[in-house]
Amino acid sequence: MTQLVAIPGSLRRGSWNAALARAAAEAAPAGSSVEVLSIRGVPLYDADEEAERGIPDAVARLKDHIAAADGVLLVTPEYNNSVPGVLKNAVDWLSRPPADVARVFADRPFALLGASPGRGGTILAQAAWLPVMRTLGVRLWTGGRLHVSAAGQAFDAQGHLADAGVRRQLQAFVEGFVRFIGR
Ligand code: FNR
Repeated sequence: MTQLVAIPGSLRRGSWNAALARAAAEAAPAGSSVEVLSIRGVPLYDADEEAERGIPDAVARLKDHIAAADGVLLVTPEYNNSVPGVLKNAVDWLSRPPADVARVFADRPFALLGASPGRGGTILAQAAWLPVMRTLGVRLWTGGRLHVSAAGQAFDAQGHLADAGVRRQLQAFVEGFVRFIGR
């Protein structure tokens, strides 16, 4: 069984990226599963806080979930043609302390995907994650790409992926990532 986690980088109730993460869970091929995690509760990174109180519980729990997973789907919104601050902040916390980076990130398969209401479909945000992925030493899968544009049309009012073409792309994407992990 290939166990993936998906991390949507938005706190918004109606988040397209959270909806995309849920759709990825539904698209998981036989022999795999996707658990959707949340960055809610991760505080703003503060080195004084870390020195005085250590790693916050919400961060420690996320780290353990990632460390136990065979692969991670990072489902990123795009803000100002780059990564969203809330997700970058969460990843920064997840990279603390440095001695634990190997357990959480090193050589762990990661894939980037995202949704936006505009035309770019998070292409620039995904590109902006590349140096972060490299720094953390993840095994980034680049064999597939998924940029969901015009998210308002792709998802219905309940946040279900209604666009059959995008559903097929998502299925191929998750299948490709699972195959990559199995190699
Ligand atoms: C955005 N949005 C946006 N979209 C995009 O495609 N490219 C961009 O550069 C930006 N920039 C941007 C900046 C800021 C500050 C906000 C608040 C929004 C729109 C963004 O894609 C939209 O709000 C999505 O709905 C965010 O993702 P979730 O919350 O739906 O997952």
